[in-house]
Amino acid sequence: MTILITGGAGFIGSNFALDWLAQSDESIVNLDKLTYAGNLETLAGLRGDARHTFVKGDIGDAELVKSVLAKHQPRAIVNFAAESHVDRSIHSPEDFIQTNIVGTFRLLEVARAFWSHLEGNVKKGFRFLHVSTDEVYGSLTAGEPAFGETHRYEPNSPYSASKAASDHLVRAYHHTYGLPVLTTNCSNNYGPYHFPEKLIPLMIVNALAGKSLPVYGDGLQVRDWLYVKDHCSAIRRVLEAGRVGEVYNVGGWNEKPNIEIVHTVCALLDELRPKADGKPYKEQITTVKDRPGHDRRYAIDASKLESELGWRPAETFESGIRKTVKWYLANPDWVANVQSGAYRDWVSRQYDLVDATQG
Ligand code: NAD
Ligand code: DAU
Repeated sequence: MTILITGGAGFIGSNFALDWLAQSDESIVNLDKLTYAGNLETLAGLRGDARHTFVKGDIGDAELVKSVLAKHQPRAIVNFAAESHVDRSIHSPEDFIQTNIVGTFRLLEVARAFWSHLEGNVKKGFRFLHVSTDEVYGSLTAGEPAFGETHRYEPNSPYSASKAASDHLVRAYHHTYGLPVLTTNCSNNYGPYHFPEKLIPLMIVNALAGKSLPVYGDGLQVRDWLYVKDHCSAIRRVLEAGRVGEVYNVGGWNEKPNIEIVHTVCALLDELRPKADGKPYKEQITTVKDRPGHDRRYAIDASKLESELGWRPAETFESGIRKTVKWYLANPDWVANVQSGAYRDWVSRQYDLVDATQG
């Protein structure tokens, strides 16, 4: 048995692959385009592991995806692949439309053709799980209830609009063609291998480098933070037992304003890696211009996932953020590689080798 994951060299997909293979002998085929956000070094521990096959490629490349499905006959597809950074979508939305909308559409088309030729229990058991975001629901005011699965879609950035479009396509492929889909909409993740353009890893690496810690606007925007391994366990659970055609919201029951997150990171660094001059890291915090169209508050109501499938996060924010800061302190080489551009050179030299040994 095997599953196909897409975007499995990125932050969440790579954590998913590592966790999956730590708990199961079911193999993974990992299709990733290796954009700036994809990092084969994250998967270095799987090099030479016959259960992991890496394929460099685009979810929008129908011929490639078709051949991967024909060769590996996965029982499920888990679609992580996306352009994921809101700020990049504001500066340059084109890639978001191409990957998140057109790419998901092409993947669905190929998956539909593959699934329609399956038979019996293999066909019955096939699943297409689409990994999505709480940002499709838009922004909440301070007193409003958290997002449930039936909350209206009101995406506000090119990123969230592209993810909303992909969710609708996934829904339509179930409603129209009967493709056995599942969709998860998750809140903000944090943890190991998080690319340092996102809030938490950026604050850690900037703090350690003595750089400023840029807080957008008043810093009172609220996000609902979930440790990445809890997101991975939720996806495993939905894949295992989720009802076909259903949407499951995933969240940490952990709303916090950005400024509090930054203060927590600074306090942990003060404890774990005090500055030579004895000054607190919080002195590096600066306020910068706000993100255009910045959503004020996200909050997820994950009670459906708990009542139907018995999932709850294992980490508290306190335990998860401590593990995360410690991981970044222990892995300066990973950080240096993704930051320096050396990583990209390394990929162009090495990915053929990885394909050949693992593909
Ligand atoms: P990421 O940016 O870290 O990784 C994305 C991965 O997809 C990269 O490895 C990249 O190379 C790959 N990719 C991009 N375009 C591709 C294409 N056309 N074909 C194949 N691969 C491609 O993203 P992430 O944070 O790991 O997010 C993964 C998924 O989870 C996304 O769909 C995102 O919308 C969703 N999500 C993320 C969060 C979060 O907090 N990071 C929260 C909820 C949902
Ligand atoms: O909610 C889920 C989403 O969470 C995912 O769908 C996205 O893929 C993921 O990137 C994340 O989106 P956000 O925009 O919430 O994450 P980001 O880390 O970019 O920003 C978190 C908050 O911190 C947000 O309010 C903007 C703010 N911020 C961010 C950066 C990078 C700052 O104040 N300063 C910064 O430098």
